[in-house]
Amino acid sequence: MMEAKVREQYNQMAALYDRRWSHYISNTLSFLKDWAKISPTDAVLDIGCGTGEFERLLLVEHPTQQIVGVDISEKMLEIAQQKCHPYPNVSFQKASASALPFADGSFDVIVSASALHYFDDPIAALTEMKRVLKPGGEIVILDWCKDYLLCRIYDIVLKLIDPAYKQCYTQAEFHSLLLNTGFEIHRARKVRFGLAWELAILSVTERIATASPS
Ligand SMILES: C[S@@+](CC[C@H](N)C(=O)[O-])C[C@H]1O[C@@H](n2cnc3c(N)ncnc32)[C@H](O)[C@@H]1O
Repeated sequence: MMEAKVREQYNQMAALYDRRWSHYISNTLSFLKDWAKISPTDAVLDIGCGTGEFERLLLVEHPTQQIVGVDISEKMLEIAQQKCHPYPNVSFQKASASALPFADGSFDVIVSASALHYFDDPIAALTEMKRVLKPGGEIVILDWCKDYLLCRIYDIVLKLIDPAYKQCYTQAEFHSLLLNTGFEIHRARKVRFGLAWELAILSVTERIATASPS
């Protein structure tokens, strides 16, 4: 199963992750934080939270923010826990995106950065996000975008050499995934970081069914 490969890979990489990817992480997560405009009173869930860098960034501004990070790699979670242990409102749990251990309607904002391309079953993950989102809450997803040539090349190469990698999506495919899971897209754009990284971000809310006239 793919999740076992992802877990193994990130357990092995955890101690080096922040150093090896420092530019990528600081660029993408600062962008995500500015984009998401999270209110200090929001309850936040971060899916595929890795080493807790997004939590660290958010807590610099809002030390009392309520945040839960989930990830399938226990070694990444250990680092996240060490980083954020002084903050009582932050916790981390081992869980898969497609089986979230939370009650329905638990979070105001759900974020996920650079993790979607690992998800075995993205529709199951998005359905779970929808379930644990509060009514009126927002989901923000940032991930690689296959509209760009370099991403298409990464996608081909990683499918050949990396057993943990699933796939990345074009912006249109990314939007279809969300629309097909019952979301409404509010904001979306593509964004480049340096020459090597090209991503797409979108903010969605659950689509409210409108009653048809009788
Ligand atoms: C590239 S890292 C990104 C970490 C963090 N979001 C960041 O931007 O630094 C991807 C993370 O997603 C996690 N992940 C991959 N598939 C997952 C799944 N199905 N459920 C939960 N976490 C997952 C990995 O273990 C890894 O920590």
